[in-house]
Amino acid sequence: MMNIEEKYVVDVLLSEEEIQKRVSEVALQISKDFKDKEVLLVSVLNGSFVFSADLIRKMDMKCKIDFISLSSYLGTHSQGKVKILSEFKEDIIGKDIIIIEDILDTGTTLDFLKREIAFKKPKSITTCVLLDKKCARKTEVDVEYSCFEIGNDFVVGYGIDYNGFFRGLPYIGILKESTQ
Ligand code: XMP
Ligand code: MG
Repeated sequence: MMNIEEKYVVDVLLSEEEIQKRVSEVALQISKDFKDKEVLLVSVLNGSFVFSADLIRKMDMKCKIDFISLSSYLGTHSQGKVKILSEFKEDIIGKDIIIIEDILDTGTTLDFLKREIAFKKPKSITTCVLLDKKCARKTEVDVEYSCFEIGNDFVVGYGIDYNGFFRGLPYIGILKESTQ
């Protein structure tokens, strides 16, 4: 049987160097903006795990991190309905929350998560996304930090998957079916 990673080709969209440079810039900006605040990063699993790991190591500030597991995607299509697959382990109340998300697409996931967090009475909610597919937006949602704006292609790599595969690529690319 053919390995799924051999059935597709990945055209590089953002190189490892471009990603690292931009993530450093954003991490520095967040560190300046949130200096001396009581920050809790909320990393949205699974897709944001690589981005979150790079971001927190490039930040120059004190913060905690929690992970939440959400799911709205099946294959290459959004199911339109977000599910929480885990709960918060850290207290949200009174904290400055920074949500770390891999991709902002229609906006459904982030809108849902921001509402869920708001119920828990944080001091503030800020959002940091790696990729913004602005042209695919269906629900308006404010984003304070965005690393890259991209088109409406299905992308993989740097933590982002296709049915669990391709997360380990150090770059981000567009998934295409191999003609071989
Ligand atoms: P919405 O539409 O709710 O979608 O803004 C955001 C979630 O969908 C995932 N997503 C993708 N996952 N390749 C992926 O592997 C993609 O091109 C893609 N576009 C959206 C993403 O994980 C995010 O949580
Ligand atoms: Mg996701």
